[in-house]
Amino acid sequence: MHNNFIFERAILIFAVILLTVTSCADAKKNYIIAVSQCSEDSWRQKLKQELEMATFFNEGVELRFASANDDSHIQKRQIDSLLSSGADLLIVSPNQTDLLSDEIDKAYEAGIPVILFDRKTDSRKYTAFMGADNCQIGNMLGLFIADKLQGKGKIVEIIGLRGSSPAAERHEGFVSAISRFPGLEIVRCEYGDWTEESGETAMKQILSGYDGEVDAVFGGNDRMALGARRAMMQAGRDISNTLFVGVDALPEPDGGMGLVADSTLSASAIYPTHGDELMILALDILRGRDYPKETLLQSSIVTPENASILLLQHEEVIRQAGYLKTMNAQAGKMRDSLKLQQIILGLVLLFLAIFVFLLSFYARAYQQKKLLNAKLQYEMETVARQRDELEMERDKLIELSGDCQEESDHLSRRDSEFMQKFYSVLDKHLDNPDISVEDISAELCMSRAHLYRKVKSVTGLSPVEIIRRTRLEKADKLLSETGLNISEIAYRVGFSSASYFSKCYRDYFNRLPTDKK
Ligand code: AHR
Repeated sequence: MHNNFIFERAILIFAVILLTVTSCADAKKNYIIAVSQCSEDSWRQKLKQELEMATFFNEGVELRFASANDDSHIQKRQIDSLLSSGADLLIVSPNQTDLLSDEIDKAYEAGIPVILFDRKTDSRKYTAFMGADNCQIGNMLGLFIADKLQGKGKIVEIIGLRGSSPAAERHEGFVSAISRFPGLEIVRCEYGDWTEESGETAMKQILSGYDGEVDAVFGGNDRMALGARRAMMQAGRDISNTLFVGVDALPEPDGGMGLVADSTLSASAIYPTHGDELMILALDILRGRDYPKETLLQSSIVTPENASILLLQHEEVIRQAGYLKTMNAQAGKMRDSLKLQQIILGLVLLFLAIFVFLLSFYARAYQQKKLLNAKLQYEMETVARQRDELEMERDKLIELSGDCQEESDHLSRRDSEFMQKFYSVLDKHLDNPDISVEDISAELCMSRAHLYRKVKSVTGLSPVEIIRRTRLEKADKLLSETGLNISEIAYRVGFSSASYFSKCYRDYFNRLPTDKK
């Protein structure tokens, strides 16, 4: 019963350890999110930082980035290797629509959720799309230029990378806005590749074949607009009245917002990154929650009137983000120390369980030993008792056989000598628990029956009774004259068990050997 209890406790402790260990091992599922960027620039850096920041609130998310440097072939290979590294979901800004569609379709068909971000493919094989409405951005900036030029002027457009969806959509929206004003004319149009250098090269190309007025330049992004501006200055053009408009409006002194604030650019459109929302969308997909297939992010125009305030607001956001990073670092330290504590706790519990197990085995062995000892003791007593009973039975049988001859009632000298001999033999063997009436009769050179009759006739008692009395009286003497304990006395007077001795002693003297006389 006791052992069972200890075993149950040990099992309980193991269960607790198991729970602790599994909770230490982290109950949350970990996700690997691959992010394939078409290029490396400030806008994409901002997105990367926002995604990384979002992992602070979503433990167990691992981000793996790759950037293709505006090369669709490199991006294909990068997508391949990101997916074969075990990514659970792919976020991708495809460099060019047609060149990357197959690769992205393949990932989608293989069951990897795909989020198209900022740029699109020409296929419907994607899980979700998130990005701004580039057509609306182009349209909004077209209307801005039309307003500033009061519906009359010559415009140059530097379009983004050929084949990329934002370039096509911004152009489409811009042309649609301009076409509403008959006094406005897009005099030249060139492709760039989103970089500042490409904007400069494109403008140089245009100016080499065009020497007319340029009242406004629409760049597919701020960097290309800036490159075009430099080319015009280098060409010696008077740009004091020329509008330079781009897209992105990054909230940094040398980003679009800063360039509008210091009047280098006339306007820009915020091209939202929203890495936090992108992370929520990715996790909703991975966790099987509802999510929108298309998410359009809001854009708005940045002009010299609002650029400074927007920059200030952004500085505040950056300051708060700094706090957030510090808090996250502290939380990380606390998480690490908690993990360590959990490991230590697990080890302590493990040792405790091992200890309880060993203890339970020891307790079981101890109890079994006690049980066996008691059994042995009982068996020894039973054997001694049975032997005495047998001897007495036998004596009675001899008595009943009728073969007895009554000797004289008086103690004769011969009787006295005989009894002396008998006592002297008995005395010699008193400490032997196995001495029997046969042994004594053999030593007296007479039969057992003869000995019995003789002793009985002389003393009125059987030899067994005489032997018992002699043992007990000698024991009584030893009790009062020596400092020996009960067991030692019992063994000295031929009892193999102390408890049996005590029982016989009590039967004879009507008191226990431990009682004072
Ligand atoms: O895909 C759109 C363009 O890509 C952004 O406007 C540009 O700056 C980015 O790299």
